[in-house]
Amino acid sequence: MEMIKTAIVYYSSTGTNHQLAEWAAAAAEEAGSEVKVLKVKETAPAAAIDSNALWRKHHDATQDIAEVTPEDLEWADAIIFSVPTRFGNVPGQVQSFIDTVGGLWAQGKLANKAVSAMTSAQNEHGGQEATLLSLYTTMYHWGAIVVAPGYTDPVLFEAGGNPYGTSVAVGQDGEMKTDRKAIQAAVNYQVKRTVSVAKALQHLE
Ligand SMILES: Cc1cc2nc3c(=O)[nH]c(=O)nc-3n(C[C@H](O)[C@H](O)[C@H](O)COP(=O)(O)O)c2cc1C
Repeated sequence: MEMIKTAIVYYSSTGTNHQLAEWAAAAAEEAGSEVKVLKVKETAPAAAIDSNALWRKHHDATQDIAEVTPEDLEWADAIIFSVPTRFGNVPGQVQSFIDTVGGLWAQGKLANKAVSAMTSAQNEHGGQEATLLSLYTTMYHWGAIVVAPGYTDPVLFEAGGNPYGTSVAVGQDGEMKTDRKAIQAAVNYQVKRTVSVAKALQHLE
C-alpha cells in the first residue's frame, strides 16, 4: 500500500487558519502520511493588508510557505482545507484558486480524493457552517469524497459541535474564543479520520 499524501491547503489573513493548518499537519504526520502545508495566494492589495496590523504581520511572517498550485491537489490523496468565513462564504482568494482547477477537474483528476474542511469567523454564529457547506459544494462537483466529522467522537462536542468540520470563533485580537486544546483535539480527530478514509479509498475499484 502506498503512503497517503496529504495536502493542507489554507488561507489566513490574521493567523487563525494558519494555526489550524499547523495542527492539521501535525495530525496528518502522526497518521503516517506525507504532508505538504500550502497557502492560498494573497490577492488583496497592499493597502488592504496594511489596514489591519495583524494581517500585515501574519502576511509577512508566512512569506516562506509555498503557495498552493493545482498540481498539489493532483498530488494529494487527502486534502484538508482551512479558510476564514467572509460574509458567510469562502474568501475570494480561495475561490480564485479554485477557479484555476477546471483543467484537473475536466480530466477527472480531483475525483475520489478524501477532502475535509475547517473554518473560523469572528462570531460564534458568524457563518461557519455556511462557509464549510459552500466549500463542500465545490468538492461534490469534483467527485471528491467529503469526510465530515459528524458527531462521531466526543471531542467534537468540546470544540463546539460543528458536524461539517472544525470551526472556531476568533476575536478581533486574533485570539480563539474556544478552548485551543479542545479545538486542536477536534482538528486532530478530523484529519486522522480523513487520512483513514483516504487509505480506504486506495482499494476503491
Ligand atoms: C471581509 C470580511 C468579512 C467577514 N465576514 C464575517 C462574517 O460574515 N461573520 C463573522 O463572524 N466574521 C466575519 N469576518 C471575520 C473573519 O471571519 C475572521 O477575521 C477570520 O475568521 C479570522 O481568520 P484568520 O485569522 O485565519 O484570517 C469577516 C472578515 C472580513 C475581513
